Amino acid sequence: MQFINTGTLPGKAIEQQLLLNIFRDAFPERLSTDIKPLLQEVKGHLYNRDFATAFGKEEYLETYALRWSPSRTLCYLEILHDLRDELKPFESESEETEDAEWKIVGLGGGAGAEIVALGGLMKLLKTTEEEHRAKMNIAAIDIADWANVVTRLGSGIVTKPPLSKYASAAAQSANSALTSLSSFAVTFHQHDVLNLSPDTLANIVENAHLITLLFTLNELYTTSLSLTQKFLLNLTTALAPGAHLLVVDSPGSYSTVSLNGAERKYPMQWLLDHTLLNPSGDAKANPSPCWEKLQEEESKWFRLPAGLRYPIELENMRYQLHLYRRCG
Ligand SMILES: C[S@@+](CC[C@H](N)C(=O)[O-])C[C@H]1O[C@@H](n2cnc3c(N)ncnc32)[C@H](O)[C@@H]1O
Repeated sequence: MQFINTGTLPGKAIEQQLLLNIFRDAFPERLSTDIKPLLQEVKGHLYNRDFATAFGKEEYLETYALRWSPSRTLCYLEILHDLRDELKPFESESEETEDAEWKIVGLGGGAGAEIVALGGLMKLLKTTEEEHRAKMNIAAIDIADWANVVTRLGSGIVTKPPLSKYASAAAQSANSALTSLSSFAVTFHQHDVLNLSPDTLANIVENAHLITLLFTLNELYTTSLSLTQKFLLNLTTALAPGAHLLVVDSPGSYSTVSLNGAERKYPMQWLLDHTLLNPSGDAKANPSPCWEKLQEEESKWFRLPAGLRYPIELENMRYQLHLYRRCG
């Protein structure tokens, strides 16, 4: 296991600003009036852990995506870029394959942070001839209906950003989309991942190279520890060897577990390692674990550089990170 290296992104601030602009331009209706009252309402529902209400109507979803997803997007771009040598996004499995397609399934990914980060990664990585033929195929899965948010952000990634009518001819000719429609496909599927049948889960993750659980796993554990464990085991069965699982969440997340009538708190990463690395709880009965852990960070800061412009407050964030690869 290695510790993640904190490389700097090439053209970091420019890329970051482009991603923020995608959020700003995706929901003009929300930003044309004072968004603060809506923000307060969503914050209140999140504080009360009333997610059904917080994610229950379109204007709340757009407000959430505008306020909470952009900082996470920039954080995820840095994480994915740092992990690129491990994830090897566009490495073609066969020399006969013309185009390398990287399939990513974002579980709990409806709010768009990981989608826009992947759009940014696409732009950063497409530097060589081979990478120009590379494609990303992203499926965002979420219990709430984020279809409209995903469509708007996805379209912002593959279309030229709007320019002011006073923009110079030079600015207009330099204006380009982050990446092209032919190389970036995004779909949204509304599912409760804890109640998916093994067959449906297997269909969703079929041929996936990367599964992400970003700021979602602890929510799943809080909903049901046993369903989450079952879900992780079904995911293990459904994925092909070589697939990666990336988990990012708040550091110090705990879940309360009842054992023989006594309640104990376990750190999220302990539960995760326990389920993935030693599923039977018996090393002899299960000599080759189904996952190998490649990287971990218990607590790390992502700090925004100065100078970024965005109409709503952005924030530095702290996270824990775990990257696993499915063994043969
Ligand atoms: C804190 S948000 C994180 C969103 C996004 N991944 C990010 O990093 O910004 C958690 C997401 O998980 C989704 N979620 C929670 N429970 C779920 C479940 N059982 N099945 C699918 N999605 C779920 C929520 O609807 C929400 O979109």
